Amino acid sequence: MSARILEGEQGIGESVALLRAGEVVALPTETVYGLAGDAFQPLALARIFEAKGRPLSDPLIVHLPEAGWLERVVRFQSLEQSSVVMELASALWPGPLTLLLPKREDLPELVTAGSSKVAVRITSHPLFQEVLRRLDSPLAAPSANRFGRISPTSAVDVRIELGEKILAILDGGPCQHGMESTIVEVVKEGLRILRPGPISEDQIKKYGHIIPVSGIVNTPGSLPGHYAPAKHLHILKKDILGLAPDPKAALLAFSMPPAELLQGFAAVEVLSPGGDLREAAANFYGALRRLDNSKADIIWAESLPEQGIGIAVMDRMRRSSYGSTTSASSHQGGTS
Ligand code: TXA
Ligand code: MG
Repeated sequence: MSARILEGEQGIGESVALLRAGEVVALPTETVYGLAGDAFQPLALARIFEAKGRPLSDPLIVHLPEAGWLERVVRFQSLEQSSVVMELASALWPGPLTLLLPKREDLPELVTAGSSKVAVRITSHPLFQEVLRRLDSPLAAPSANRFGRISPTSAVDVRIELGEKILAILDGGPCQHGMESTIVEVVKEGLRILRPGPISEDQIKKYGHIIPVSGIVNTPGSLPGHYAPAKHLHILKKDILGLAPDPKAALLAFSMPPAELLQGFAAVEVLSPGGDLREAAANFYGALRRLDNSKADIIWAESLPEQGIGIAVMDRMRRSSYGSTTSASSHQGGTS
C-alpha cells in the first residue's frame, strides 16, 4: 500500500467519506500537514496513534473551522475565561495558534490522553476548513510524521513519512509557515506559552499576563528529543565564517554563506538567502529532510537570531539535535 495523493474538489469529497468511515487522512494546514481523524470516533483516534507510532500518553490537537464550534469540545470554567478566549480568537484565528482549554466530558479521553484539558485550533487552510464543515465533526490531528521525526510540510513529505501506513493525503501545496502552531494554555492567572510558534509572545501578551515557563516545556509531546533527523545534527557554537569546509558533512545555513563553504560540503541548504526569519522557518523541515537524505555523515546547523519566529525554529533545532544525538548513538547530550 502506498497512500494516494488526492486533489481538488474530488479529493475533498473522498477525504470526507474516508473520515466519516473512521479512517485517517493527512490534511494540509498553514503550519505543517496533520494526520486527521474524527475526534468523536475512538477507532479513528486509535488509528492516528498506530500510524504515527505515537504513545497513547501524548494528546492530540482538535481542529475546528470556526470559534462557534468551541462548545462542541470545550467547557469554559468562567465568563472571564471565555471572554479572553473570544478576544484571542477574533484577533488570531484562523491561524497558527492552539489554545489549551478545559475539555467537555463527552470528548473521548483518547484525544486528551486522560487530561481534563483539550488543545484546540482553528486552521486557516481552506481545504482543511472545507473538510471540517462537510464532515460536520471536529478533527483530531497531530503532525503527519512518524513519532519523534521531522514534521512534513508537503504532501510528498507526508508520503515519505507515512505512505505505507495510511490510505490518503489531501494535497494543499506547501505549508505557508512550515512550523507548528504556538500553544498557549489559558488559566485564571494568565497565559502560558507551552510551545513557541509562528504567533509571537508579543502578539499574545495583549490578551493576558504571560506566565513564564522555564526552559524546555515537557508537555507530553514536547520531548527534548523530537523533530529528529536520522543523521546527527550539531548546532554550531561559533560563527559560520569560522567553519572549515568538510566534504563529509552537510551544512544547514541560515543565510547565504561564502562561496568556499557553499562548495566545501557534501550538501548545503540555505534557509533564506536574504536572512528572512519567516522564509527560514517555512524552509526548515524540508531542508532538514533533504540534508538527512544526502550522502553526508553529519549535519552542521547555523543558529538563527532568537526573535519572532526564530525562537520557534531554534526550539525545534535544539530538539532535532538532542533527538539525533541521543537515539542509537554514542554521542550524548544536546548541542555542540
Ligand atoms: O501546527 C500544529 O499545531 C500542527 C497542525 C497539524 O495543526 N499539529 C501539531 O500536533 O503540531 P502535534 O501532535 O504534533 O503537537 C501537538 C503538541 C504535542 O506536544 C502534544 O503533547 C501537545 O500539543 N498537546 C496536545 N494536546 C494537549 C493537551 N491536552 N495537554 C497538553 N499538551 C497537549
Ligand atoms: Mg508533532
